Amino acid sequence: MPQETFELLLTCAPGLENALAEEAREKGFAVQSQITGGVLINGNWPDVWRANLTLRGANAVLARIGSFPASHMSELDKRARKFEWGRWLPKNLALKVTASCKASRLYHSGAVCQRIETALREEFGAPLSDRAPLEVMARIERNICTLSIDTSGVLLHKRGLKLAMAKAPMRETMAALILRQCGYRGLEPVVDPMCGSGTFILEAAEMARGLLPGRSREFAFEKLPSFNAEQWQQLKAQPPGETQFIFRGFDRDAGAIKAATANATRAGVNENAQFTLQSISALTRPAGQPGLVICNPPYGQRIGDAKKLGSLYASFGQVLREGFSGWRVGLITNDASLAKATGLPFQKPSDAILHGGIKIRLYQTHPLD
Ligand SMILES: C[S@@+](CC[C@H](N)C(=O)[O-])C[C@H]1O[C@@H](n2cnc3c(N)ncnc32)[C@H](O)[C@@H]1O
Repeated sequence: MPQETFELLLTCAPGLENALAEEAREKGFAVQSQITGGVLINGNWPDVWRANLTLRGANAVLARIGSFPASHMSELDKRARKFEWGRWLPKNLALKVTASCKASRLYHSGAVCQRIETALREEFGAPLSDRAPLEVMARIERNICTLSIDTSGVLLHKRGLKLAMAKAPMRETMAALILRQCGYRGLEPVVDPMCGSGTFILEAAEMARGLLPGRSREFAFEKLPSFNAEQWQQLKAQPPGETQFIFRGFDRDAGAIKAATANATRAGVNENAQFTLQSISALTRPAGQPGLVICNPPYGQRIGDAKKLGSLYASFGQVLREGFSGWRVGLITNDASLAKATGLPFQKPSDAILHGGIKIRLYQTHPLD
């Protein structure tokens, strides 16, 4: 069974599909297509384990275990009861079911969920619980029901390492894909002048060291009958590499610097990551070769914020224009006028990326003059 291939959906924030598809291709996965908020690949169980372990950009890896037409409840009920659950799921382990419906005759996701739950309970004998470690997902789209297992469990941005948080942290998975969009591949230094809990710097340092993002956590697939603990240990046993670069984060908030430093120690990259309490106005160019300045300063969310934040963005731009010749800049913001306030020579911004309900864009420069 482990060699059987099926479709896997790698999920991501809408707007980052290209970056995730590129990462998946580079890491040897068979990319089939992209949809809004995800990338479809073909793979077998070892691919599922490897995707969860090695992909920095995926939020979750969903294994599509079957699909069938379901135009009305009796059809859904019949098919769900006949489905070979035992081929995929463990006996006697609690399961959680979720459902969604789109452009279909069946539109009541609660009722769809109930039918799948009933089939699992009555035909497969599965205990059901909202807090179960394994989730079965039913998606009805254009009258076709697709069943998936969430093989990740807790979302993949939770790498089990960044436990200390500052305000408005970015998800690790999003930070990794944004670094990738900036052309970062682990071969240059990175500076984040307003680093918060250090997400960009930690991701950059880990990428440079060749550390596996999933090395310190558990996954839902470990509970499936297809899991092979010996093969899994072999996959995980990749020795870390070295890097000559130092990755630097700065913030004017002492709590953020404390959190980022603790996170770096936990991730084992404290020799490569330095965090300093310092305001943007005091930022100077680090010695050595140029690299990437990446930053998501505070966003303007309320009317009136843009004015207040304008001077912060202007100060950010001035420091970089005056001192960072040869460095590229990547700025994430939700407001084009704030990007403009930096006075930096940005290229056309990225498509909108959905970040906790806010539409943000990545603004990038070429190496500065
Ligand atoms: C949106 S948060 C960055 C979040 C970060 N990327 C993370 O993942 O945790 C913005 C950060 O900018 C910092 N900040 C605001 N004004 C600053 C200034 N003048 N100099 C340095 N840092 C500043 C805040 O303290 C905050 O931590």
